[in-house]
Amino acid sequence: MDWLTAITHWLHVLFAIFWFGSTLFTDFVLMPAVMQMSPGAQRELGQRIGPIAERAETAAGVATIVLGVILGTVVGPVQSVTFLLGTAYGLTWLVSLVLALAVFAFGARVLTPAVAAIPRATTPDEQAAAVARVRLYSLLQLVGFLLILTTMVLMHFEG
Ligand code: HEM
Repeated sequence: MDWLTAITHWLHVLFAIFWFGSTLFTDFVLMPAVMQMSPGAQRELGQRIGPIAERAETAAGVATIVLGVILGTVVGPVQSVTFLLGTAYGLTWLVSLVLALAVFAFGARVLTPAVAAIPRATTPDEQAAAVARVRLYSLLQLVGFLLILTTMVLMHFEG
């Protein structure tokens, strides 16, 4: 066994589980609970969870993407533009990279500011709308993760 590849693979899947798993947890556990909380409790949760989630998601996203790039190129088969654009594996890898960068940017530019907007809402209606926006954005992010996961499985069979 090639240990460098195995360790890179292990770390990549670990960070990916954390990154993708956070969204699954948010969509199917956290948000349904948040929808039942009082406006005050929602505000406090948004205030406390926002900065921690931002740091954790950034670290997990960067680690997953960097390790995925190493896995495909340094210890993987994507070592020329011909392979990248001329094989199913290369193209799938490229699609996964673009999707992951898009999901990462969406998290940083859209979802994180939406969480930060919850404690800033000035009326209960405004706050309910802010919570609903976070829920929608988090579900949209989930679609991105499901597409990325599909490319991972495709690469497994194309490799
Ligand atoms: C949320 C994002 C991601 C998730 C959940 C994820 C998940 C996974 C999983 C579970 C595997 C193991 C598949 C297997 O061994 O059958 C894997 C492998 C792999 N991932 Fe990712 N990954 C993500 C992002 C990325 C990105 C952004 C890249 C690079 C652009 C990447 C490149 C790879 C490569 C090259 C493999 C090895 C595929 C093979 O040859 O079998 N991943 N990923």
